[in-house]
Amino acid sequence: MAIVLGIETSCDDACAALVEDGRRVLAEVRASQEDDFAAWGGVVPELAARGHLAALPDIIERTLSEAGLALDAIDAVAVTAWPGLVGSLLVGVTAAKAVALARGLPLVAVDHVAAHLAAVHLGREAIGYPLAGLVASGGHSHLYACRGPGDLTCLGGTIDDAAGEAFDKAAAVLGLGYPGGPVIARAAEGGDPRSVALPRSFRGDGTPRLSFSGLKTAIMRHARGPDPRSPLRLDPRGVSDAAASFQAAVVDCLADKALLAARLAGARTLAVGGGVAGNRRLRERLAADAAAQGLELLLPEPRHCTDNAAMIAALGFFLWKNGEVAGLDLAPLPTGRVRPRPGR
Ligand code: KG4
Ligand code: ZN
Repeated sequence: MAIVLGIETSCDDACAALVEDGRRVLAEVRASQEDDFAAWGGVVPELAARGHLAALPDIIERTLSEAGLALDAIDAVAVTAWPGLVGSLLVGVTAAKAVALARGLPLVAVDHVAAHLAAVHLGREAIGYPLAGLVASGGHSHLYACRGPGDLTCLGGTIDDAAGEAFDKAAAVLGLGYPGGPVIARAAEGGDPRSVALPRSFRGDGTPRLSFSGLKTAIMRHARGPDPRSPLRLDPRGVSDAAASFQAAVVDCLADKALLAARLAGARTLAVGGGVAGNRRLRERLAADAAAQGLELLLPEPRHCTDNAAMIAALGFFLWKNGEVAGLDLAPLPTGRVRPRPGR
């Protein structure tokens, strides 16, 4: 039995978690700066880093006290090292180094995108590999073949925007606020998903490619006309219909490519993670499509789809057990290490 402290600060959330054996969450605390960034319409990197610096020590303390544990109960420290906003990552990496150095603990560098897939271990006993993975978040919409926790080959992905980014942009042009995913999902509830004809790039073409920039432009033109600075020309009903149609287009594309990932990876299990995987319509569609294809579908709980430290502790546990320990010279990177295969 081993307890890993996970720390995540790659974007605008500062999070800490204590996870036992990569599976059981003992405690987790998340401090979002979402409300601070609503006025800016997105994350301001320097402000995010300063926010983490102010918040993180208290978040780690609260996580320990929620679990009723002291630092000496921890066996390893795992931290998001890439990809992300470098200033934000530096705050988490420095805190993790400080704890590791002070307590003589192993330090584990975790890839944030791989951790979104490893989130499927939380709350489950054993998971059979290989599996196919889709990560759909604010920064990524990529397909993977996964041989073990953190052992990923990228099969392809978006050639432009990420799905979450498209949700955020669509919400902005529809006047719905930030972050886009949850507000679009709410506005879509009363809307007709067939009311606005929107593009579904690469859907059904058998290639591991996604693209959301055409969809983003189409929703913008529908909402504002040719000039994005023009006022919104939809009434509340029209906004609901546009939100529902937009969500349906994203769900169609992601579900299609998730199933393709399973075929390409030759896997009977499909794992889907990242903030967009919290979307109820996407979850329902994936469940129906996976059942129809005889695939096992693994979805993290919605709170472990968006950025969180439990997934970092989970993957950190498996990497540590694999002997992957970082030195105190660990330096965060803005880009990830799992790159699409050449020629995709
Ligand atoms: O994984 P995440 O928390 O951060 C990144 O690693 O990027 O993903 C954040 C993204 C945002 O773009 C947000 O709009 C989207 O996930 N998102 C959703 C939902 N909840 C969050 N998109 C669709 N439906 C949701 N329920
Ligand atoms: Zn993320």
